[in-house]
Amino acid sequence: MKRTLPIRCPKQGRRLLRRARSLLDRIAVPARAHSGSDSTPVQDQPLSVPPSVAFTFRTDSAPDFSADVLDGPNLVARIIEHAQFRKIVDFFADNPSAQRSLMSANAQALLYCLIRILKPSDVIEIGIYHCGTSEAICRALAANGCGVLHAVEPFTATLAREIVRQWPNGIDRFIKIYDETSMQFFMRAEERNIKPSIVFIDGDHSVEFAHFDISVSARILNPSGFILIDNVAQPGPFLASKDFLAANPSWTVETSQLPPILKGYDRSRATVVGTDFAVLRAPPYHVVDGRPRSFGPVKWSSKFLTGVTLTFATPTNEDGVVSAQIILRGFGSELREKVFETNVRLSKGSLGVAIPSDGFALDRSFNSYSVESVLRWSGSQPLLLAEVPQLANSV
Ligand SMILES: C[S@@+](CC[C@H](N)C(=O)[O-])C[C@H]1O[C@@H](n2cnc3c(N)ncnc32)[C@H](O)[C@@H]1O
Repeated sequence: MKRTLPIRCPKQGRRLLRRARSLLDRIAVPARAHSGSDSTPVQDQPLSVPPSVAFTFRTDSAPDFSADVLDGPNLVARIIEHAQFRKIVDFFADNPSAQRSLMSANAQALLYCLIRILKPSDVIEIGIYHCGTSEAICRALAANGCGVLHAVEPFTATLAREIVRQWPNGIDRFIKIYDETSMQFFMRAEERNIKPSIVFIDGDHSVEFAHFDISVSARILNPSGFILIDNVAQPGPFLASKDFLAANPSWTVETSQLPPILKGYDRSRATVVGTDFAVLRAPPYHVVDGRPRSFGPVKWSSKFLTGVTLTFATPTNEDGVVSAQIILRGFGSELREKVFETNVRLSKGSLGVAIPSDGFALDRSFNSYSVESVLRWSGSQPLLLAEVPQLANSV
């Protein structure tokens, strides 16, 4: 089958690409409504379905959802209260793929609507199983006419590829399957230039793995992006979500808060009705406070660095000191690490600061380099950065 790559989404606010709609009727095979809960545990087991099996799909489109709900506060509540949402839930409930998804029709419909509204260039799904939910995600990307689902799956990728190959209406153009664990995948997200606005975490549900999936997603997520964590009935996803929120108080939870940590397993604590999700939303800015914040190592092209520029989203509302540490590393037959650090006093009303690092260089050349910037702010209110620290190596 000929595959063409999906196009990247234009920036929000630009004219939307309209999808050419298929006139195909629904296939004749009656669909069985999805009755399962979101909390079905999945063993990492070998495939039980031979690749020659023909899978069934709805070939019509899900009801549209781009009309009158705009991005903004309480987006999830406004989606699920919308009259059209029920119709979209019914569509996914009455879809043969419901038998291959481990999520409720409500959960699939919520992902579908979020993608229709946010029009993300990149969506990530950690743990795709048989691509039931991936299909709902790709239906939304296809309706947008742009975007890619990065689908990460170390155990069932072969069968997933076979299913995706049979998807209707060419929506397989919108998925890329990675036969990798989430750690292998995230290690290469930067070099693959993946910048997600939505991450759906549904992989290994033990607390340590869920911790990793949430924190590393948060690091590469676009401002105001969403992380949807499935199976918060289970101890792992729940505890990892609570720990992440405790360490990142500027994040919000939609539509209701997670309860206090009292029980390991509890089927009644999802933050969105009809799902087993914790839906977390990133702040619109990069937040720096009294705890040193690392922006993670980024690839760098030379053995020196001349400075870093910070641009604030809003003027500082008090005097304070920003402490910056820039860690330059060289990699080759040996490794080298050098740290530049400085404290800069800012006055109330500051809009940003350019911090020179004159003479900051490694003593010789290496095969490759990385730079990690770490910031800390002394003020009583967090410092809000409009973008990650911008590094410079101009002379
Ligand atoms: C609950 S299922 C996913 C269901 C799917 N998201 C859906 O909605 O139908 C969990 C999946 O995570 C995969 N998985 C297990 N460990 C993983 C890891 N370390 N990284 C990524 N995926 C993993 C499993 O193979 C399994 O397919």
